[in-house]
Amino acid sequence: MRKQVIIGNWKMFKTNSEAKKFMKLAEKGFKTKPDLIAGVAVSATLLDTVKTNSKKLVVSAQNVHFEQSGAYTGEISIPMLKDININYSLVGHSERREYFNDTDEVINKKVKALLAANMTPVLCCGESLETFEKGKTIEFVKAQLVADFAGVSKEDAVKVIVAYEPIWAIGTGKVATPEIAQNVCKGVRDIIADLYDQATADQVVIQYGGSVKPDNVKQILSQPDIDGALVGGASLEVDSFLALLV
Ligand code: 13P
Repeated sequence: MRKQVIIGNWKMFKTNSEAKKFMKLAEKGFKTKPDLIAGVAVSATLLDTVKTNSKKLVVSAQNVHFEQSGAYTGEISIPMLKDININYSLVGHSERREYFNDTDEVINKKVKALLAANMTPVLCCGESLETFEKGKTIEFVKAQLVADFAGVSKEDAVKVIVAYEPIWAIGTGKVATPEIAQNVCKGVRDIIADLYDQATADQVVIQYGGSVKPDNVKQILSQPDIDGALVGGASLEVDSFLALLV
């Protein structure tokens, strides 16, 4: 059985004092369930604070460099994350692909580096409105995933969490219908089955992301191939974050 994984992506929001306050209330309010992993993906300056204040919630980086160390001003490395017990990182969010030149080649290196360090990559994929309107979503996502999983073994592939986030649904309030989200998440599973085999694909956790809110989360999560959610805006306030986890 696949676990359900719900992660709040705070993007470039919150100071340390805001994060600390959030974590105190979120840890208090979060009722754990055996098959649910919930957590937050936070900016580099918040990782240590949030980790220190978390017991039940997992903490993820939003990005990482694939090299262990080096002259890469502004980047953070896997050893830096491991040193503060961070075991998850988002990889290839559409905002990083669009504004920070995260190509599939770079994303693939990050995925492999995280897996080699026994960390969990939350690998984001998803198409633009133009691609969606042309009916080329699956083709586009397939090209991303083929490149992003290149050289990843079957044993490692099951440890990757894939987040399908249509760009046109991010921060727009335009959530994909549960049917569209299910259809593409099933498509993602089929792509992984083609790359490896069905048994491998059946183990991979696939999230949907894009305008997930407390009032639509249940319907999205009830779809057979959607195992969780990656949530931006609705994860920033504690009440709304906790309402995603019920
Ligand atoms: P919103 O939930 O704000 O649409 O953001 C989705 C997202 O990009 C999560 O990574």
